[in-house]
Amino acid sequence: MRLSGAHVLLTGATGTIGSRLATELAARGARLTLVARTAPDLTALAAPLGAHALPADLTDTDRLPDLLAAAEDHHGPVDVLVHNAAAESAALLTDVRDGEVARTVALNLVAPLELTRLVLPSMLRRGHGHVVAVSSLAAVATFPGLTLYGATKAGLSAAMAGLRLELRGTGIGTTTVELGPVASPMMERIATEPTSAAAFGRARSLGVLPLLDPDDVATAVAEAVDADRRHLTLPRRAAPLAAMSQAPRSVVRLALTGLRPAHHEAARA
Ligand SMILES: NC(=O)c1ccc[n+]([C@@H]2O[C@H](COP(=O)([O-])OP(=O)(O)OC[C@H]3O[C@@H](n4cnc5c(N)ncnc54)[C@H](OP(=O)(O)O)[C@@H]3O)[C@@H](O)[C@H]2O)c1
Repeated sequence: MRLSGAHVLLTGATGTIGSRLATELAARGARLTLVARTAPDLTALAAPLGAHALPADLTDTDRLPDLLAAAEDHHGPVDVLVHNAAAESAALLTDVRDGEVARTVALNLVAPLELTRLVLPSMLRRGHGHVVAVSSLAAVATFPGLTLYGATKAGLSAAMAGLRLELRGTGIGTTTVELGPVASPMMERIATEPTSAAAFGRARSLGVLPLLDPDDVATAVAEAVDADRRHLTLPRRAAPLAAMSQAPRSVVRLALTGLRPAHHEAARA
């Protein structure tokens, strides 16, 4: 999906990866709607990028239709939807606080599914669009201390695989991004949980999970969307791991080659 001139709605825009991604997307000529809860941070990021700041709590899923309407009032229909907001909940499941399961699932999984469901009818009518999910290698190989987070990311990656099949032939693309650890406050918070910290320490000593630079991540994500790539795994040395987890999905995709989902006909009508 060509980013130049496209209206991109980016969630989690003020975070470590989101803020870099916003800057990268703006540099590629995208018209941006940026979403996060903290209005001053959002405004400070949006102003120099000429972006539209839309403060919102994505766990308030009943308000997502209003959020989308406000984005479209300002910049017109959304061409690219980027699900980047998430919370990591670094704790053994027994230590997760009351209410945190529901909040984490709402932010990491319910909100992306709802926003995608809401944005698709307009994309289908126009016959173009792109949905991007920033998922995690925790979707395919969860470490202890990330049980809740990994469950939401596995759900997100699975949803994107299903969506891609549903959208064949419609002109709407998807990109699933599965990231290893990025140099960020999120990783610093994960390192406060001793079991997670030990597991990441072991992975790092084996050389399989080097810390990613958030600027490199942002560049790679923007390139992947521009090139309409369906999958991006970083670090690239983890790609075989992700490919193994993708094998059943690839088999289904091949088995369904030639079958047209209902959307295809709707998009042509
Ligand atoms: N960092 C890593 O090592 C790593 C590794 C693999 C995958 N990832 C994925 O990469 C993405 C970005 O990670 P990150 O490290 O950049 O995260 P981050 O720095 O913690 O940023 C999170 C962003 O989401 C927003 N946010 C949080 N709760 C929200 C809510 N309820 N409603 C709306 N916005 C909310 C935050 O702003 P407010 O607090 O102001 O709302 C912030 O903009 C996430 O999907 C994460 O799972 C990260």
